[in-house]
This record gives sequence, structure tokens and C-alpha cells, in this order.
Amino acid sequence: MVRAVLLGPPGSGKGTQAARLCQARGLLHLSTGDLLRAAVKNGTALGLKARGFMDRGELVPDELVFALLRERLRSPASARGFVLDGFPRNVPQAGTLDGELGERGVARVVHLRLEDEEIVRRLLGRGRPDDAEPVIRNRLRVYRAETSPLIAFYDQRGLLVTIDARGSVDEVAQRLEAALFGRQGGL
Ligand code: AP5
Repeated sequence: MVRAVLLGPPGSGKGTQAARLCQARGLLHLSTGDLLRAAVKNGTALGLKARGFMDRGELVPDELVFALLRERLRSPASARGFVLDGFPRNVPQAGTLDGELGERGVARVVHLRLEDEEIVRRLLGRGRPDDAEPVIRNRLRVYRAETSPLIAFYDQRGLLVTIDARGSVDEVAQRLEAALFGRQGGL
């Protein structure tokens, strides 16, 4: 069963690739960013608490994020496999995920590598509320400080494959397929 995590800086294409892969393979796409944006849009109590962190490009407190994710991970829809996009975002979240998945564990972590200037170019072209340049720069700082340690964390467990996230959406999708299902990935 596919239990994959897409890891990478903001704008590296995690959401684009996860959506496409899940549609093609009938997997559940779990994006904590999308879940949080829906909570903000719906004005839920959780969304109101999360909004300021998101607007500043900071991480939303772990317990709020996991409250959104837990039931979905336990749902029958995840039984055929899932792709996590934007979670885990720090080492404590990776520990929480391990606790939730138990013996099943994460099967593969794909790290999408992309340089900052291309990230800023892509995100300025999109224009989401957190895509103003100072907020993008802060998201990059937060990624380096809090999320990038997960690269070594999963590499030490033998779960990590790094792919080049430059090029077209199709090119990156081919690399992702190879990382998950090709000889290198072998899920
Ligand atoms: P989240 O929604 O996860 O944002 P992010 O990680 O900053 O990622 P993005 O959505 O910006 O980029 P992406 O890598 O998904 O790329 P995408 O495919 O969209 O999180 C937002 C906020 O929520 C966080 O800052 C935080 O506050 C909070 N949050 C979320 N998860 C959390 C967690 N676990 N813990 C705590 N807080 C959390 O592509 C970006 C753009 O590039 C698009 O316009 C796309 O069309 C374009 N594009 C994609 N691929 C290509 C390509 N190959 N060539 C050209 N353009 C491309």
C-alpha cells in the first residue's frame, strides 16, 4: 500500500504533484495546507486560531494541524493508500505520524528539491494570500529551520528519495513516479 510523504520547500510542487498522482492512482491526497485553508474559509474555531500563523508564514501549532489530519488518516478512504503533502513539517510531527501509523509506518518519503529563486518566481506568479514576497521568504526560513531536518531524519531510516523539482509538471511527475514505483523506489 502506498503510504508516501512529499517533502519539500514551499512552491516545490508538492500539492500539484500529489493531486495528480492521487487522481491517477486512486489514492487519498492529504494536504494539511488545504485542510487549514478550508478551516479558515469556513470560519471554524480552529481556522480562526490558525489564520495568523498562516498569514505570517509560520507553522500552525502541531496539535491544531493533527486534529485536522487524524480522522482522515483513520478513514476508510486512506485504506487504499495516501500521499501526505505538507505533513510532517517538523520532527515532532514525524513522531506523531509514526505513533498514528503504528507498524504500518511511512513507506517512502520523496524530497522535491528546488532552488529559492525558482520558488519565489513560481509563488509570486500564483498570488495566494501567503504569497507576498516577505511571507514567502519567511516560509523559506521556517522550512530550513524546522522542516529540512526531516531530510536527514528519513534518509537515516532508508526511506528518502530526492528528485529534481525543476522543469515542467510532466517532467517532475515522471521523476516522482520513478521514485515511488520504479526500480529506485520500488513500492
Ligand atoms: P502549504 O499549503 O503546505 O504551503 P507550502 O508548503 O508553503 O507549499 P505551497 O502550497 O506553497 O507549495 P507546493 O510545494 O505545494 O507547490 P504547489 O504545487 O502549490 O502550507 C501553507 C501554510 O499552512 C504554512 O505556511 C503553515 O502556516 C500551514 N501549515 C500547513 N501544513 C502545516 C503543518 N504540517 N504544520 C504546521 N503548519 C502547517 O505549486 C506552487 C505553484 O507553482 C503553483 O502555482 C503551481 O501551479 C506552480 N507549479 C507547480 N509545479 C510547477 C512546475 N513544475 N513548473 C512551474 N510551475 C509549477
